[in-house]
Amino acid sequence: MSDVPLLELAGDQPAPIGPTADPAVRLSLVIPTYDEAANVAALVRRLHEVLTASGVGFELIVVDDDSPDRTWEVAAGLARDLPNLRIIRRTGASGLATAVICGWSHARGEVLGVIDGDGQHPPEVVADLLEAMDARTEVAVASRHVDGGGVSDWSAIRRLLSRGAQALGLLLLPGTVGRVTDPMSGYFLVRRDVVAGVDLDPVGYKILLEVLARGEVRRVTERPYVFLERSEGESKVSARHYVGYLRHLMRLRLHPLRSRALVRYLLVTGLAVVADAVAFLWIFDRHGWNLTRSAAIAGEVGILLTVALHDLWTFAGRATRGAVDRIRRLLGAQVALGLLLGVRLAVLNALVNWFDLGPLAAFLVAMAALTPAGHLLGSRLTWRSATS
Ligand code: GDD
Ligand code: MN
Repeated sequence: MSDVPLLELAGDQPAPIGPTADPAVRLSLVIPTYDEAANVAALVRRLHEVLTASGVGFELIVVDDDSPDRTWEVAAGLARDLPNLRIIRRTGASGLATAVICGWSHARGEVLGVIDGDGQHPPEVVADLLEAMDARTEVAVASRHVDGGGVSDWSAIRRLLSRGAQALGLLLLPGTVGRVTDPMSGYFLVRRDVVAGVDLDPVGYKILLEVLARGEVRRVTERPYVFLERSEGESKVSARHYVGYLRHLMRLRLHPLRSRALVRYLLVTGLAVVADAVAFLWIFDRHGWNLTRSAAIAGEVGILLTVALHDLWTFAGRATRGAVDRIRRLLGAQVALGLLLGVRLAVLNALVNWFDLGPLAAFLVAMAALTPAGHLLGSRLTWRSATS
């Protein structure tokens, strides 16, 4: 057994990802497995072929959580013919995301990656991802939601759950989730220096979110893939994982002042809200204009301020500079926030006319109810960074 590269690890001791790579290894691809004895061999062999054909130095690292079906043993059996294959068997630990990080912390490559061990991620796409990792690209994501991508045979319910989870992510973490079309993807590559020394601490499945939220990622590229059906075994996703996903989002959301963009974003939002309220008081109270018109003008003041400051300051480094792009972005934000302002005016009038609220109280209630949604959805979606 001694010639088989099988590493046995006890317990869940998160190890840091080091900064230095072995120059001979371009890619370290981690394959997390739990009860995939029936799937792992075909996948590993195919990946080995695809990567050998690509001509880069690589290693495949199966990280198995001591599967009852002894997946680790099957994988270790393959290592006799496949020199670039390594196996880690973790005992007393579990979790897809932590398994991936464990694999990365033992990896040697310049580029770190992950692919499911059940054959649902087509192995050929790894060549596209590798090719996408040019000098400027830090993360390459296989996506179901770009042209040429998709899911093979999902029920309406599963599609809905997947899209719902994504929408929720957008609401809570717009700057992170909004950067890619498929934030749930478990098939991607990341440059080592993005995650080296970073304290990755995900709950559950969504390691990509963790990387995008905590790593310093300037450029993401996406490539299409079709999520295949499982031929053997079953998905480990359960209701527990949806709860885990929520906890993960909340944790990233609360991660204190995660980035400069977030601080600026909150400052601009706060300023816009104050300007909106002051403008309303001034126009309505001092000048006695009618309620709807005053609130409309005040709301527009807030919108213009938001749009201008986000473009020139908050997202200055991220947004593309071309004039056409800028106009498209500004119009997009104006339309989104303008629509929401329309709703706010309707709510305002309803509160005054039907619920007998005083105009000032109604203004504040309507603003409190609708501003957060407007800022989260309208503005941050518009400045989601360019991906290609
Ligand atoms: N080591 C380890 N430990 N591996 C695990 C664990 C674990 O606790 N749980 C799951 N895995 C492995 C599985 O064996 C499989 O190879 C891979 O992780 C994905 O798990 P599945 O249970 O097959 O997930 P899925 O098909 O429902 O979800 C996939 O699609 C999502 C997008 O909708 C995964 O790729 C997710 O990463 C992806 O986000
Ligand atoms: Mn799967």
